[in-house]
Parts: sequence; C-alpha cells; structure tokens
Amino acid sequence: MTTPQSTVLITGASSGFGEEFAKQYAKRGHRLVLVARRLDRLEALAVTLREQYKVDVLVEQVDLSNIAAITDLHARLTEQSVEVDVLINNAGHGLQGPFLDSPLDATMSMIQLDILSLTAMTQVFGQDMRTRKRGQILQIASILAYQGVENYAVYSAAKAYVLRFGEALHREFKRDNVTVTTLCPGLSDTGFVSNAGQRMTPMLRSIMMPAPPVVRAGIQALDAGRISVVAGLANKMNVVLMWATPRRIHQALLSKIMNC
Ligand SMILES: NC(=O)c1ccc[n+]([C@@H]2O[C@H](COP(=O)([O-])OP(=O)(O)OC[C@H]3O[C@@H](n4cnc5c(N)ncnc54)[C@H](OP(=O)(O)O)[C@@H]3O)[C@@H](O)[C@H]2O)c1
Repeated sequence: MTTPQSTVLITGASSGFGEEFAKQYAKRGHRLVLVARRLDRLEALAVTLREQYKVDVLVEQVDLSNIAAITDLHARLTEQSVEVDVLINNAGHGLQGPFLDSPLDATMSMIQLDILSLTAMTQVFGQDMRTRKRGQILQIASILAYQGVENYAVYSAAKAYVLRFGEALHREFKRDNVTVTTLCPGLSDTGFVSNAGQRMTPMLRSIMMPAPPVVRAGIQALDAGRISVVAGLANKMNVVLMWATPRRIHQALLSKIMNC
C-alpha cells in the first residue's frame, strides 16, 4: 500500500484518465509528477491541485515517443531526489481505420508510444523500485486487448502486448515487493475517440463510461495487489462473453460496436 508520502508519476496527465488519476491521487495527499506534451494543460492542472489539496506537484513536459526523453526524465528526477513510488503508465492513443489505408507514420508512432515507451518507463522506474524493494505500477491496456478488432488492428494488438507484459511482470516483480496491475477500460469519455480519428455516434456515447469510476477501479485493484482488472460491469460481462463464445462470434460483435 502507498502512504500519503508516496510520489505518484502519471503519464498522459494532461487529459482524460491521466488527469483523473492526478485528481484522485492528489485527493489522497500524494506528491505528483505529471507528464505529457501539452504544458499549458499540465500547469493549469498543477495549480488547481496545489490549491485544492495542498500537495506538491511537479510538471514535466515530455514527448514520451522519444526514448531518450524518458531516460532524461528519469535522470532529472533522480538529480532532484524524487523517488517514484507509484508509476501510472497511462499515456497512449488509438488509431481507427483500415490497416492498409492508415498512414505508416501514424501507425509506427502509435506502436512507439503504446508499446515501446511504456516498456521503457517500466524498466527505468521499475529498476529503482526493485532497489528500494517497494513500488506499484499500473499499466493501462484496454478491453480491446482481449481480441483483434477490425479497423483497430494495430491498437488492439498493442494493448494485447500491454496486458500480457503486465501479467508476466506481476509475477516477476512480486519477489521484489513491487506490484504490477493492468487496467483494461472499455470505451470511456476522454479524448480517446477523437484522437483515434473515430466519429462519435449516439451508440458509442451510450456505452461510454465516465473517467472517475474507471480510474477508481484501477487504483483499488493496484492497492489490492491484483494482476488485472476490467473496469465496469458491462465490460466485465463482455469479457465473460468472450470466454463463453467462439472467437468468431465475440470478435464480430466487438468489431460491430467499435465501428458503428
Ligand atoms: N478512453 C477510452 O475509451 C480508452 C479505452 C481503453 C483504453 N484507453 C487507454 O487509456 C489511456 C489514456 O487515454 P485517454 O482515454 O485518457 O485519452 P486522452 O484523453 O486522449 O489522453 C491521452 C494522454 O496521453 C498523452 N500523450 C499522447 N501522446 C503522448 C506523447 N507522445 N508523449 C507524452 N504524452 C502523450 C496525452 O497528452 P499530450 O497530448 O498533452 O501529450 C494525453 O494526456 C491510453 O493508453 C488509452 O489507450 C482509453
């Protein structure tokens, strides 16, 4: 378990789930390190959280798609004696569309952020946690991690990586008293849909979860030392359906929902 003295680093804290993680950890009195590219949004959030919850908030403008920027971030924090006790590996984005028609650059940069950067953050900050024999890491995957989804081929494969990576590390890091938990949200009301290039429809809106309960589910699962958690009852039922039905049926169903 964390104490209020623990420092929490949140990637992708400038909007969506990341911003909500920052609010919920600030409410618990934690010192925060907020990481993303949009400095104005990070600074505005930091001012609000300092005023409202009297917590220390460090702002780090980092483009995580650059691995050297990740090692630089780690070096800067070490220099300032900032020890990261909780890492929320949240930054990521989707990309909707037929695989062959997606610009190659966009596809590669999504793989870079959703897979490579998350892996680098986990290794760099995980090594410190191993040395201190304590720490918590929450990996943000997706319910799409459970099957390949038409028009979300690379994203669903990337999130499958995050889920399998997190599951393996859950056991591997346990011996050093470091918890790794993977959160799988379903469609939620953040910047995700528009950033993925998807059109918002009434159907999509009707199944979206708000960010606060998704984030609460992630923090609770991490504190409870769980291997993974699917946020929300409807999403949990969806996963049960996947176990209970042949792949071609649940794959067709989710493809329909995600492309409606
Ligand atoms: N919302 C959903 O429906 C949903 C469902 C399942 C999983 N997820 C996952 O949840 C996570 C958070 O997404 P969200 O839904 O909260 O979407 P969001 O509102 O678009 O937030 C994405 C965050 O990632 C940051 N980011 C993007 N590229 C970055 C980069 N190169 N370097 C640093 N930060 C970067 C963005 O900040 P800047 O632009 O300021 O850099 C932003 O803060 C993602 O991993 C996403 O795949 C979302």
